[in-house]
Amino acid sequence: MTERRDFDAAAAAWDEEPRRVKLAGEIAAAIRDNLPLSREWDALDFGCGTGLVTLPLSQYLGSIVGLDSSQGMLERLRGKIEALGCLNVRTTLCNLENGELPSGRFHLITSAMTLHHIPEIVPVLLTLRGLLHPGAWIALADLESEEGNFHDDTTGVFHNGFSAEELSNMLKKAGFSSISVNVVTKIARKDQLFPVLLATAQSS
Ligand SMILES: C[S@@+](CC[C@H](N)C(=O)[O-])C[C@H]1O[C@@H](n2cnc3c(N)ncnc32)[C@H](O)[C@@H]1O
Repeated sequence: MTERRDFDAAAAAWDEEPRRVKLAGEIAAAIRDNLPLSREWDALDFGCGTGLVTLPLSQYLGSIVGLDSSQGMLERLRGKIEALGCLNVRTTLCNLENGELPSGRFHLITSAMTLHHIPEIVPVLLTLRGLLHPGAWIALADLESEEGNFHDDTTGVFHNGFSAEELSNMLKKAGFSSISVNVVTKIARKDQLFPVLLATAQSS
C-alpha cells in the first residue's frame, strides 16, 4: 500500500479531536521533561501539522520552524501564529522524502506522530541529522507497536507503531548516539490503551 493520506483535507478539523490535542500536549511536556530546552536553541518540528506540539514548545526555545508537506496544515498553524502573536515560530512547506530541505541548522528536531506515515524512515533520519548542529538533539514521538487497531482509516499508515528497539536501531543506523526510548503516555481509544514512545538521541 503506497497511497498517502490527504492531510490537506484533514487540516480544517484536525484540532477538533480532543484526544489529539491532549496527546500533543503530553508529548510536548515529555520533550520538555527529557531535554534541557534552552532559549538559545533554534528548533525544527518535522510533520508539525497544525502546530499542536510546535506552539507549546515555542515558549521554551529561541525559535522553532514548523515543517510540513501539507499546505492546509501549515495554513492552520499560520493562523494560530498570527492570532497568538508568536514572533519566534515560522513555517516551511517541505517534503523531506523528496529531497526538499529547509534552510538553517538546528539545536533540536522534534517530530510527533509523523514517523508511522513515512515508508522509509532511515533516509529521512539521515536528512534530519544533516540539519542538526553537532551534539544537537532529536526527539521522536510515535505509537508503540500495536496490532493495527489504532487508526480507523489506515490510508497512508505504513507502520503499526514501533518497538523501542526498532526506533533505537533506526536512530543508530542514521548515525545518532546517546539514544534513549521511553513510554511517555498512553492513548485511551476503542477500549484499549496505546502506549506512546519518545525516543531522544544526539547527533555526533
Ligand atoms: C499525524 S500528523 C501529526 C501532526 C502533528 N505533529 C500533531 O501531533 O498533531 C503527521 C503530519 O506529518 C506530515 N508529513 C507526512 N509526511 C511528511 C513528509 N514527508 N514531509 C513533511 N511532512 C510530512 C503530514 O502532512 C502531517 O501534517
